[in-house]
Amino acid sequence: MVKVPERTTPFFDYAPAPESRAIVDIKASYGLFIDGEFVDGHGSSFKTINPSSEEVLAEVAEADEADIDLAVRAARRAHSRVWGRMPGSERAKYLFRIARIIQERSRELAVLESIDNGKPIRESRDVDIPVVAAHFFYYAGWADKLSHAGFGTDPKSLGVAGQIIPWNFPLLMLAWKIAPALAAGNTVVLKPAETTPLTALLFAEICQQADLPPGVVNIVTGAGATGRAIVAHPDVDKIAFTGSTDVGKAIARAVAGTKKKVTLELGGKAANIVFDDAPIDEAIEGIVNGIFFNQGHVCCAGSRLLVQESVAEEVLDRLKRRMSTLRVGDPLDKNTDVGAINSAEQLAKIRELSDIGESEGGERWSPACDLPENGFWFPPTLFTGVTQAHRIAREEIFGPVLSTITFRTPAEAVEKANNTPFGLSAGVWTDKGSRILWMANQLRAGVVWANTFNKFDPTSPFGGYKESGYGREGGLPGLAAYLKGSS
Ligand code: NAI
Ligand code: MG
Repeated sequence: MVKVPERTTPFFDYAPAPESRAIVDIKASYGLFIDGEFVDGHGSSFKTINPSSEEVLAEVAEADEADIDLAVRAARRAHSRVWGRMPGSERAKYLFRIARIIQERSRELAVLESIDNGKPIRESRDVDIPVVAAHFFYYAGWADKLSHAGFGTDPKSLGVAGQIIPWNFPLLMLAWKIAPALAAGNTVVLKPAETTPLTALLFAEICQQADLPPGVVNIVTGAGATGRAIVAHPDVDKIAFTGSTDVGKAIARAVAGTKKKVTLELGGKAANIVFDDAPIDEAIEGIVNGIFFNQGHVCCAGSRLLVQESVAEEVLDRLKRRMSTLRVGDPLDKNTDVGAINSAEQLAKIRELSDIGESEGGERWSPACDLPENGFWFPPTLFTGVTQAHRIAREEIFGPVLSTITFRTPAEAVEKANNTPFGLSAGVWTDKGSRILWMANQLRAGVVWANTFNKFDPTSPFGGYKESGYGREGGLPGLAAYLKGSS
């Protein structure tokens, strides 16, 4: 038998294959989108930058309380006069139109998302934007069938929804929030995250292009204070939030005792569990996708690798080899696997927790990789020798950092997987169907993937247990969250 030499570096190096920026037209400054028009805010403004170069992209208005009041009033008028009364079959036409425009302008949206967020074009082009369109198509399909969806014969919208979203999947989180709200007959005031406002503002233009009645969608930019003003506004009927557990708790406190409905989608520390009978090659791809997809800025990331002791050495060896082939760099290069960290703040958090991981006794490993000089970067990182007590095993790092823990029996795997304040997702890798079902029953996680990871579909509800929040988005439960009398 011929012995094949171990391969440590890729056979071929790729020539740069940058996607053109020419398709996007970024304005020097943006106002707020209120009542169907772009208006100047009363407050100051802030800059959004490209995290892969630190280049300033645009100046964006910061909405203050008076602006939020205008936006909520516009949304209320649109709800009571137009959108809340419109037959579902008519609302559906607008949603289908928006979905089609998103498809038509998908390249533009993908390039803009990668520029403002730092994620690889391969992901924004092949995952984010197609799933955004799929959400609008899916919920458009429900708009005229609400009375046949199990919510009674004449389900009613809530009214005005205040929606606050994070920076990790800017347009996708917008779609998760806006599509079901509009399908159910609500109007919205949505705030994108301060580091990634541009695709939401382009979406506002798409609403104009689709002739959506003024006030149905209002986009207000700003940071925490703007978010707080939305939460505090007395005429908002529902708050939908995705972001950190701390802010989620603050929102829950702020709305306690009011009539506002709330859904919270917060952090995670998912276990990705590999048994000794798992298809190892596929598991390696699943582990890589689980933690390095979107630089690990994923609430349901598989950030804790639980690997059965008998295969741990083999899995870790192969994982390191696979990690050595990941290309870190220019988000607009079509060959890039891992893009830029979204902000200096997030990079500081990832660095701090990784340093703590080392000082608490974890063994840290990263493949050799050249990181660009400007911008925010962190190499794909693997920790071994991690115990349950280590902070990197307990806290959400929200970066490309994987903590590995071993186990011997299925019961031990379950105990370790559930030993976390979070409960958003989990992954199970095994050849045994019965074990998958048994594990899925035992795991306290809203989503359990079997022999795959990070798969998203608009028909599938998503949400967590414990400190990962409450309520579900996606599927019919995602619609119920925007209807009276259902939850
Ligand atoms: P964050 O929770 O502060 O930001 C999320 C959104 O909430 C942004 O639009 C922000 O402007 C807004 N916001 C901030 N303070 C608010 C307040 N008091 N009231 C209303 N809205 C408010 O999250 P941040 O600081 O960007 O990230 C910190 C950590 O949170 C990350 O390292 C990660 O661990 C976690 N995170 C989790 C996300 C998830 O998808 N579950 C998404 C983003 C962050
Ligand atoms: Mg940005």
